[in-house]
Amino acid sequence: MGPVLDTLSRPLRNLRLSVTDRCNLRCAYCMPEEEYVWLDKRDVLSFEELAFLVDRFGALGVTKVRLTGGEPLVRKDLAVLVAMLAQRAWLEDLALTTNGVLLAEQAQGLRAAGLRRLTVSLDTLDAGRFRTLTRRDSHGAVLEGISAAARAGFPAGLKLDTVVMRGVNDDELVRLLDYAASVGAELRFIEYMDVGGATRWRREDVVSRAELLVRLTEAFGPIEPIVEHSSAPAERFRLRDGRTFGIIASTTQPFCRACDRARVTADGTFFTCLYATEGLDLKAPLRAGLSAAELEALLRARWARRVDRGAEQRLALTARGPLATAQELKAEPRREMHTRGG
Ligand code: GTP
Ligand code: 5AD
Ligand code: SF4
Repeated sequence: MGPVLDTLSRPLRNLRLSVTDRCNLRCAYCMPEEEYVWLDKRDVLSFEELAFLVDRFGALGVTKVRLTGGEPLVRKDLAVLVAMLAQRAWLEDLALTTNGVLLAEQAQGLRAAGLRRLTVSLDTLDAGRFRTLTRRDSHGAVLEGISAAARAGFPAGLKLDTVVMRGVNDDELVRLLDYAASVGAELRFIEYMDVGGATRWRREDVVSRAELLVRLTEAFGPIEPIVEHSSAPAERFRLRDGRTFGIIASTTQPFCRACDRARVTADGTFFTCLYATEGLDLKAPLRAGLSAAELEALLRARWARRVDRGAEQRLALTARGPLATAQELKAEPRREMHTRGG
């Protein structure tokens, strides 16, 4: 049947597959609460079920898959899933986003399993600050994880993602860029987003793309935009010394018009937007034994109805606060960024 388009003519090319909703950090911008409602373990899809779904998405046009969490490396034997997916010749790009805590022990195994591309979240170079930001003492482990990843050598690239929050880590832009260069990684600064889970979000705490560029120009001199055609959310830039970096301006300059992403939670709920409230349950049909063709028809019909422009709609609001309260998120944990895959 071939590729499918949504109501805004956007294809479905990118699948973000969450392999667990659990996480071993408590980042202030994602999991600031003391308690969470977790998915039932029995509902979490097996590797075989996940791989079967990936193939169904492949039939609709997906060529890129990113494994996410929660924290994907807390899922037991994740390299086995990576190896299964890496065998699919049609899959052009297989990547993983991790917080790096368990990476030192897993980087080599993931690389050997066929992972070609890796993104590690790194918001600070200061151990004390890391503890305040994540409520865990794992800064050393993350830095070791990044070194291990650099040594393992991911041929399609190593990226570091920094969510910039005013008064928290916005004085570290230059240090973070220097650190990224020292490990051969490309850094992306991410605007703090009002996603589900960011229950403390305030507009004042967002450091915008525009402000980031002003500050980086002060530090490094003129910055040149790199012109390229891609649906990736990051815009890339080059410093005078040749180093490159990215900015993901999801909050002040959303890229919904070009958004070709689908998300599937660890329990098989299909979302067509990071901000969507309603998801489509794929686990029940999957476990009821629907055929490949029947499942593909279900996904196709859902994508064809897609109208989502979540981040653009948020931008249009005059009074903007957190997307959902902690209470609302407890009632529907699939609205959490950590369940939906960051
Ligand atoms: P590549 O460019 O292929 O490396 O992928 P990516 O940029 O999607 O990588 P990553 O998973 O690291 O995503 C980076 C960040 O962009 C996320 O952590 C979010 O903050 C933001 N982001 C990811 N997906 C979406 C989305 O669907 N909508 C919006 N508004 N922001 C997103
Ligand atoms: N704003 C921006 N990015 C976020 N992430 C999680 N919560 C937020 C938020 N409120 C993203 C970060 C992190 C990844 C795992 O999820 O990029 O690195
Ligand atoms: Fe932090 Fe990612 Fe865990 Fe959220 S899921 S708390 S962003 S490490």
